[in-house]
Amino acid sequence: MLENRTIFTGDNLDIMRGMESASVDLIYFDPPFNSKHNYAAPIGSQAAGAAFKDSWTWNDIDKTWQGLIGESYPALHNLIETAELLCGKSDKAYLVYMSVRIMEMHRVLRSTGSLYLHCDPTMSHSLKLTLDAVFGANRFVNEISWVYKSGGASKRWFAKKHDTIFFYTKTEHYTFNPQKEKSYMGIDYNTGNKNIKLYDDRDGLGKYTLVNSKDWWHIGMLATSAKERTGYPTQKPLEILRRVIKTSSNEGDTVLDPFCGCATTCLAAEELKRQWIGIDISSLAANLIIQRLENELGLFGLGIHHRKDIPPPVEKRSKDIRHILYHEQNGQCAGCKDSRPIQKLETDHIIPQSKRGIDTDSNLQLLCSWCNRTKGNGDMAYLKKRLLEEGLMND
Ligand SMILES: C[S@@+](CC[C@H](N)C(=O)[O-])C[C@H]1O[C@@H](n2cnc3c(N)ncnc32)[C@H](O)[C@@H]1O
Ligand SMILES: [Zn+2]
Repeated sequence: MLENRTIFTGDNLDIMRGMESASVDLIYFDPPFNSKHNYAAPIGSQAAGAAFKDSWTWNDIDKTWQGLIGESYPALHNLIETAELLCGKSDKAYLVYMSVRIMEMHRVLRSTGSLYLHCDPTMSHSLKLTLDAVFGANRFVNEISWVYKSGGASKRWFAKKHDTIFFYTKTEHYTFNPQKEKSYMGIDYNTGNKNIKLYDDRDGLGKYTLVNSKDWWHIGMLATSAKERTGYPTQKPLEILRRVIKTSSNEGDTVLDPFCGCATTCLAAEELKRQWIGIDISSLAANLIIQRLENELGLFGLGIHHRKDIPPPVEKRSKDIRHILYHEQNGQCAGCKDSRPIQKLETDHIIPQSKRGIDTDSNLQLLCSWCNRTKGNGDMAYLKKRLLEEGLMND
């Protein structure tokens, strides 16, 4: 179990692989949106120097990831192929990158846990299907719209004024603390009638009633002057995180943000007496969270654990070695050289263990089941002889 108040600097895939299964109650993450922009914080701001890339190519992808996805979630594999046909290689790379990480998030969530994925209309359609594939379509709970007023306008389209937050749960037995919000009474601006419920308080005219929170959240975008603003590009308002955390966790629970940026999630979790773990590939995140906890909560010397190591993987990565071998063997059986899908190839010790073959990756290969059975406790010379006899191989 990881310690409370841990912030990791590193790639969240490596770090999540070192986290115990079913050890986290709530995950919120706000990954790069595939905006095709690269972000940088303004010079002179608290976050100066922070930068991250949000354009994706095949170089961002490890060759084993696609195989892992195909093996665990064949439907997701097909979905990604379709996204490539429709939208191109960059979208495919983005989805492969996100999918392997979402698979780890699903693993580390407790059975009562929830996941919130914050994105925008660029990839929301594909990300929702990705979540359906990993969590199950029946584990979808809400699509929340975060609506705001600031930002640009255009003469060519409706002004884009919302982000999307998908809310999924691991099982049907999830933590949910219903929240209330104010619903204002006042003038209906379309008809001029009084005492019609309005959904915003544009001039503070009316009285309000408390109603159950809705799936669209009016929360102001951080003004340049806002006290909580660090200058970190894409920083999200604390109020969003407060709602997520209050609703889907209890005091003492563990909250994880694997793309934590300037650690808004960690700060809100600390404020609400939850335990937290933040991960960001940029080392600035760790410095910012320490500064923010001191400045905003007055918490000094809290004992934040800043880790730069990669915890050892909790699961044997035998799946990975299979994908590396598959790639090296060009998708073929190492005996008869027939092309096979990875699921149809078996892992074999080249020198059998009964003949003192060692159990290391360099002594492994993939064989079709015929070759594997035929080779039995023999060696490769024996298998080759049998293949020649059967006419399955030319000399
Ligand atoms: C949209 S920002 C998150 C902003 C955050 N919600 C906040 O309020 O500050 C996305 C973050 O993901 C980080 N990131 C991108 N790829 C990552 C990876 N593989 N592992 C960890 N962090 C990553 C970037 O450095 C960036 O800080
Ligand atoms: Zn074979």
